[in-house]
Amino acid sequence: MDALGTLLRTHNCNELGTDHLAEEVVLMGWVLRRRDHGGVIFIDLRDRWGITQIVFNPEINPEVHQKAHQLRSEWVLAVRGRVEARPDDMANPKLKTGAIEILVNELRILNASETPPFPLDEDVEVSDSLRLQYRYLDLRRPEMAAKIIMRHKAAQAVRAYLSDNGFLEIETPVLTRSTPEGARDYLVPSRVNTGRFYALPQSPQLFKQMLMIAGMDRYFQVVKCFRDEDLRADRQPEFTQIDMELSFVHEEEIIAITEKMIKALFAATRNIDLTPPFKRMTYDEAMRRFGTDRPDTRFGLELIDLTETLRGCGFKVFNSIIEKGGVVKAINAKGCATFSRKDLDNLTEYAGRFGARGMAWIKIKEDEWQSPITKFFSEDELTAMGKALDAQPGDLILFGADSLNIVQQVLAELRLELAGRLNLIDRETFDFLWITDFPLLEYDHEQKRHTAVHHPFTAPAEDQMELLTTEPGKVKSRAYDLVLNGNEIGGGSIRIHQRAVQEKVLRALGIDKQEAEEKFGFLLRALELGAPPHGGIAFGVDRLMMILTESESIRDVIAFPKTQKATCPLTEAPAPISRKQLTELSLRPDWKEK
Ligand code: AMO
Ligand code: AMP
Repeated sequence: MDALGTLLRTHNCNELGTDHLAEEVVLMGWVLRRRDHGGVIFIDLRDRWGITQIVFNPEINPEVHQKAHQLRSEWVLAVRGRVEARPDDMANPKLKTGAIEILVNELRILNASETPPFPLDEDVEVSDSLRLQYRYLDLRRPEMAAKIIMRHKAAQAVRAYLSDNGFLEIETPVLTRSTPEGARDYLVPSRVNTGRFYALPQSPQLFKQMLMIAGMDRYFQVVKCFRDEDLRADRQPEFTQIDMELSFVHEEEIIAITEKMIKALFAATRNIDLTPPFKRMTYDEAMRRFGTDRPDTRFGLELIDLTETLRGCGFKVFNSIIEKGGVVKAINAKGCATFSRKDLDNLTEYAGRFGARGMAWIKIKEDEWQSPITKFFSEDELTAMGKALDAQPGDLILFGADSLNIVQQVLAELRLELAGRLNLIDRETFDFLWITDFPLLEYDHEQKRHTAVHHPFTAPAEDQMELLTTEPGKVKSRAYDLVLNGNEIGGGSIRIHQRAVQEKVLRALGIDKQEAEEKFGFLLRALELGAPPHGGIAFGVDRLMMILTESESIRDVIAFPKTQKATCPLTEAPAPISRKQLTELSLRPDWKEK
């Protein structure tokens, strides 16, 4: 293996063009492709910036050509050579450096490489676990590197924007105590405080509130948060937030500032010129029309409520559900009357995954309404349904009947599935939507108590304090979420800044005085010592980048993500620890060692 010696890199692999003809240059990088036809050897040399073709010509430099014979994929090279124009028919207009090549007169092999476990220069299916095990190879692929680079640009744009607008970047602890964001905590045992545990923050929520009380006025942080929850394509156990908090503000100022931040981010990453203000919708309207608080409003297929239309109808399934307090809602899948039996069975099965006990349907044909259930309805009911649904010949009506929650969940998912199948989604648009007027609390039937929809520090709507003791489920909050193309990319609220109000909300959450003191005593105390009105928001960087880079999963925009099972195939974390470490932590395991 050669050493770098005195060679100094002069350019990267994406810089050279016809302006540099005849210059002597030094490039360094990896062998991407090699074409060796017995005579001249061509190599595509790759680095983070791009690709440059380097050429070894036996007639011009036989010694170097001889050495180049051994080069293989992913070997690491330094080359010195002359920039030459490629013959016209050899130019590659798709490459930025495609008009030139480097005629090499000095080759140093900085490192060899074994054959990589998967090819880096082809579009082949590689399993996720193999990609993650060899993430350093995966990230060498230009499409992956591009995502990491774009993420960097996003973070820089946000830092610049916020710093220019008076925000201070302040770090908060990672070893802390539980912050209730609704997930399970990751815990870290304390060696010196036997039997005590730190929790990794689910978010820096309480610290940023402390910073407002400390008079910092405007805070931000690009920060890791940790949540032990079931993983999905848009959820990781550790993920990154752009976390912000502001003092002496209303919702409107927070919304306006963050819209400008998102605008700056889109300009810096994709050169897209967004035009805030973004659309807004109340939580109630989103749930009613789309069945979810993060609706994808790039297409229609809205939910139509037929409960009152069908109350007392002859179809027993629906009628008994309505009588028991349930609802019937439907989606008009425009132009889908051509769906086959198999398509419908398929959709029914899909709906079943989200809790549907069936999926009644009606095909609207020119001369009849085709369905096993039309016979149960009166002429008037059919007419009323047709009107509510704007049913036209060629349409397909899909029904959900159950409790409100289940129907909303099922039809919201069905809506997305249909939009995908029918290709209704315009992939070119970025559809931003603020959701406002969330309920403060929701009833958890398992725990038999109210839980916070956002978190327990969210302020109730100003005129609804009284309701908190009488009908807590009806109280609206001062929370808002930002939704992009059906993904929740951010959420925040105006906070409670008075002890009495905070105590009242904790009480509504079923947390008694003693527990409140134990868990949130430091917050309650701080609220008594001159806490200013404040509020903030946090954006999910990974989700934002997933959308901006048009990736399928947030894993693609995280350099070292975890698998669905929260493991890291590269380092094999989580790993067993020694008996000695356990003893030091005063932990006595009762699991069997494998
Ligand atoms: P929230 O819990 O809504 O609010 O989180 C803010 C944003 O973080 C993203 N997010 C996630 N991204 C990837 N993986 C996860 N497991 C995950 N969980 C959340 C989402 C979400 O919108 N402290 C409050 C913010 C505030 O009130 O200011 C909070 O953490 O995009
Ligand atoms: P059944 O009388 O149970 O055979 O149901 C007749 C039709 O109603 C079938 O197409 C079922 O899929 C549908 N159906 C049954 N239960 C529900 C429900 N809860 N919501 C929507 N459709 C249903």
